[in-house]
Amino acid sequence: MKFENTLEFAKSLDEQDSLKKFRNRFYIPQHNGKDKIYFTGNSLGLQPKNAREYIMQELEDWAKLGGEGHFEARRPWYPYHEIFPQQLSKIIGCLPEEVVVMNSLTVNLHLLLVSFYRPTKERYKIICEYKAFPSDQYVFESQARFHACLPDRQGFDPDDAVIEVKPREGEHAIRHEDIISTIKEHDNSVAVVLFSGINYYTGQVFDMKSITEAAHEVGAYAGFDVAHAAGNIELHLHEWNVDFACWCAYKYLNSGPGSVGGAYVHQKHTTNIDLPRFAGWWGYDKVTRFKMEKGFEPMPTAEGWQLSNAPVFSMAVHKAALDIFEEAGMDAIVKKGQALSSYLIFILNDTNRKLSHDLIKVITPDDQKGCQVSMIIKNKGKEVYDYLMENGVSVGWREPGVIRAAPVPLYNSFEEVWQFGEIIRTMISDI
Ligand SMILES: Cc1ncc(COP(=O)(O)O)c(C=O)c1O
Repeated sequence: MKFENTLEFAKSLDEQDSLKKFRNRFYIPQHNGKDKIYFTGNSLGLQPKNAREYIMQELEDWAKLGGEGHFEARRPWYPYHEIFPQQLSKIIGCLPEEVVVMNSLTVNLHLLLVSFYRPTKERYKIICEYKAFPSDQYVFESQARFHACLPDRQGFDPDDAVIEVKPREGEHAIRHEDIISTIKEHDNSVAVVLFSGINYYTGQVFDMKSITEAAHEVGAYAGFDVAHAAGNIELHLHEWNVDFACWCAYKYLNSGPGSVGGAYVHQKHTTNIDLPRFAGWWGYDKVTRFKMEKGFEPMPTAEGWQLSNAPVFSMAVHKAALDIFEEAGMDAIVKKGQALSSYLIFILNDTNRKLSHDLIKVITPDDQKGCQVSMIIKNKGKEVYDYLMENGVSVGWREPGVIRAAPVPLYNSFEEVWQFGEIIRTMISDI
């Protein structure tokens, strides 16, 4: 589509938008009595208005029923987590039995690595992206140190075991061919290839299908942290043969601060009940769980990794949010998300041209992106960020110098993207 940097054009895109009614399903934070331009749904998604009702239902049932609510609540708590796989499988692109909702993201990443990172003296490397989210970096580092299979019972040295694929000098995105050649180069020393689906800093989408193929070719597992991809881009984890993945529900999935996370394990592994794991009673075979016997027998689904009973209040918000996703449909969400971020890149490049300062540099690759657009504003990044925040525009700042803006399809509009460009133009013209 040929974009135009005018209010009329932005409004015409909004008129054609089949998802525009969904904005009204969310509370939009306010600034001086007006809606903020909220472009931080990649960090914390907004509150769905139905969340209160879903939580209230659980509070009421708890008040009325006490422990009986485990089976008699309107949504019984004992199998509460079972309401998610059907809906989430459409977002994650997998079979329902490959998904479980549990814990939080970093915890799930560790739990999955217990099964999929089982280093030996020869095969012990983790290949990941440069500037993976810090929590993931600490996971890799601590997992490497934790596994003491060397003769002196020392763990692996993370400097040797964790291999980061970097962007080339002067570039921001990581070239796909460099990812593949690094995997090949380290060959049978690679235990796991673990990338994010979308890098949190640059907004670059990785080619999960061919990274998985390359990992498998050298005999390694392929896993992904899809925190920034779930509910944002099209995913087909099962079809791509991805071994495992995890995500949080508080970003694009709008399920509230610190909300319960999710994990995916490919069916070929869920049915292998001998796969080592850390176990808890909620991963135990449902049929015999309450015999309370010794000897762990896992469910042959992703639930086989679940440790504890369901945190119902957090899950109630997750359910409220996913019901909106179900109604809107992932195809429409992805399509509008792509259009919003493409329009934003166009507006930023056009603003840059008009200012003739060459100040704004978009670092998110146009052909490998979701909703998030990351930009560097030469020498003025923090100033522009502060100005935006003071003027009712919510964007993210990430050290050392990136502004992240993520217009999201369920509650942002093309008009807001246009306004964002105008606010930046006004501010930079004054510099
Ligand atoms: C890509 C990525 N990984 C891991 C995390 C850490 O998540 P949590 O604190 O829920 O474990 C985040 C948080 O924003 C993230 O963006």
